[in-house]
Amino acid sequence: MSDKIFADNILQGKVAFVTGGGTGITGGVARAFAEAGARVAITSRKIENLEAAAKIINDNGGECFTVAADVRDYTALENAIKQTAEKFGKIDIVVNGAAGNFLCSAEELSANGFGTVVDIDTKGTFNTARAAFEELKKSKGQILNISATLHYTATPMQIHVSAAKAGVDAMTRNLAVEWGQYGIRVNGIAPGPIEDTEGMKRLLPEPLKEKLTKRIPLRRFGRIKDIENSALFLCSDAASYINGVTLVVDGGQWLLGTSFG
Ligand code: COA
Repeated sequence: MSDKIFADNILQGKVAFVTGGGTGITGGVARAFAEAGARVAITSRKIENLEAAAKIINDNGGECFTVAADVRDYTALENAIKQTAEKFGKIDIVVNGAAGNFLCSAEELSANGFGTVVDIDTKGTFNTARAAFEELKKSKGQILNISATLHYTATPMQIHVSAAKAGVDAMTRNLAVEWGQYGIRVNGIAPGPIEDTEGMKRLLPEPLKEKLTKRIPLRRFGRIKDIENSALFLCSDAASYINGVTLVVDGGQWLLGTSFG
């Protein structure tokens, strides 16, 4: 894949607020947005992850602001949004990437384990969107929700995440319908198996990697860059009439089923 897909500075003048923006897929999205000219604020629970990620962006000529907040804590998020708007003057794009995951069978999962993932992924997405609403209304901005394909079929050991991400997809459609009248676009990306991510390390033991690769029509894992490019497209003016869509970026994997045992 060519390194340069898009014209320079397609997000020039934009301000993006990215949850889970310190690491993994959304860490990549934050970097890609900065390279495309946006000023970015990244948030997650761990300030040390944020500072390392911000340094990379700032050292490469971008502008990155860090603010620690747990997406489960609405007041902390409101504060993070307020600080970002004060720092950069506005917010145009919100990326909901904060997520929690672990493998656990339904019969072993505790109620609190289920609730914890729903709190982070689903409620966290609502909390962030809701806390950013007034800023997005002012900027006629947009939201990008990162979900998954786990719930398109049924994925063993992932009942908590499947339920949580199904809720995220539902909110993408609901918010698109409710907030379209303000010029706010709400879309999502459902990544398939993406290499070099915390999720993949946690979910896929190395010996199973080859087996899964054979069940991906494109015969390769996704790269963080694949998600970055889709995020750039959906958050750019090229997608100005796209609203309420969750773009599946998985090499066609879910069509063969997400389980492969
Ligand atoms: N298997 C089963 N249950 C688990 C678990 C596991 N591997 N990890 C956590 N839980 C359960 C805990 O037992 C607890 O339930 P209990 O009180 O009934 O025992 C509940 O989940 C909350 O756990 P806790 O560790 O207190 O939550 P946390 O808020 O500190 O951690 C997690 C959040 C659980 C999502 C944690 O895995 C995490 O921080 N992950 C990092 C982010 C990540 O996963 N990124 C990849 C995204 S794809």
